Amino acid sequence: MSAYKYTGVILLSALLSACGGSEPTTEQNEPETVHPGMTKGKAIFAANCVQCHSLHRDQVGPKLEGAMSRWNNDTARITRFIKNSQEAINMGDPRAIDIYEKWNKTIMTPMPHLTDKDVIELIDYINKGVE
Ligand code: HEC
Repeated sequence: MSAYKYTGVILLSALLSACGGSEPTTEQNEPETVHPGMTKGKAIFAANCVQCHSLHRDQVGPKLEGAMSRWNNDTARITRFIKNSQEAINMGDPRAIDIYEKWNKTIMTPMPHLTDKDVIELIDYINKGVE
């Protein structure tokens, strides 16, 4: 009887350690390659945004060309949205709600690791409009 119990414990711990292997890494924030002449904004964009956004084409998320003017170039509002879009939506930001509805309520990944300065670099990159 106790032998069966023991087997159960071994199986359980094997399962738990198997799960531990898929922990998310924190590498996402670090630009993999910063080429000479690549701006900081472009590098941050490449590391965090490019899987869903392009400046000139709609992809998983909307194209970002000219997007800042749709937020009245209000850095504080844009920063809140980029760091945590759900928070901006819940606070009733009209542009956040509008774009969320238009994209069939697709949630943008929260980016709490970005600093305000990172977001300024991103806004600068988006405003320049050169990929
Ligand atoms: C997982 C996919 C995904 C990632 C990664 C992502 N976004 Fe988004 N983004 C979206 C989607 C979908 C929307 C539109 C709907 C929503 O989430 O509100 C959006 C909307 C936006 C908007 C609003 C556009 C407008 O016209 O008002 C901005 C600005 C934006 N994203 C910037 C960024 C930046 C900067 C990054 C990188 C730090 C980023 N996004 C990363 C999916 C993503």
